[in-house]
Amino acid sequence: MKKTTTALTAMKRKGEKITMLTAYDYTTASLIDKAGIDTILVGDSLGMVMLGYDDTIPVTMEDMIRYGAAVSRGAKETFVIIDMPFMSYQTSVYDAVKNAGRLMKEGHCQAVKLEGGVKFKEHIRAIVDASIPVVAHIGMTPQSVNTFGGFKVQGKSYEAAKQLILDAKAVEEAGAFMAVMECVPAKLAELVSKSISIPTIGIGAGAGCDGQVLVYQDMLGMYPDFTPKFAKRFSNIGEGMTDAFKAYSSEVKAGTFPSEEHCFKIDDEILEKIKESVL
Ligand code: KIV
Repeated sequence: MKKTTTALTAMKRKGEKITMLTAYDYTTASLIDKAGIDTILVGDSLGMVMLGYDDTIPVTMEDMIRYGAAVSRGAKETFVIIDMPFMSYQTSVYDAVKNAGRLMKEGHCQAVKLEGGVKFKEHIRAIVDASIPVVAHIGMTPQSVNTFGGFKVQGKSYEAAKQLILDAKAVEEAGAFMAVMECVPAKLAELVSKSISIPTIGIGAGAGCDGQVLVYQDMLGMYPDFTPKFAKRFSNIGEGMTDAFKAYSSEVKAGTFPSEEHCFKIDDEILEKIKESVL
């Protein structure tokens, strides 16, 4: 059965940790679904790991819909959240509702995610009022990389820590049913998680959050450009893939692939007749 917002909220009440991984395509979503992961985030991190950009800024609505719909087709039971890309909600409350609606209708997801706290309270409330579940993203919000001056840990000073708590309370009050917290000191993230009733999903925010999220290429060792400090490698599939590509190349060049078992057969009589009549 498909996971629901109420089931995810209940997990926090019961003290059950929530699992989330990113995915951007049908095949990966199917594998994640099969593994019993609770939620998939079609993150705008696809700008980096799928499209090779330096950050998430160039990602478009069309990108999110295309990848999001593919993921939704693969996720039979896993709850799917699609990211709202840069400038799809910041421009106005109207744009926020309209674009969140497109992600639901065309991406077939169960919720949308947007970055921001207090400043986007009105946007979150309007989207929720349109019957669209919202996940808020607070702390280090990658779409603000140019104002932060890089991908930096947030909430370390008294003022910044206070702002994080205000942001968490604001998104809860606006109706978000979940909050992703990125790159925040672990003790502060734990405090935030205890001070709100909606589940918090940490990435670089310690074990005190109600759940965890990782970019799947980071946890599988598939993205060589940059591995963040918080991204534990659970497997080295990237290396395995490179080895397989090399083995394929060697066999093709040596003429040992394809072998008989990978070939289709034709009746020898037909072949002889072709040779005699056509060649
Ligand atoms: O875009 C993304 O993948 C994200 C996660 C890092 C939380 O927002």
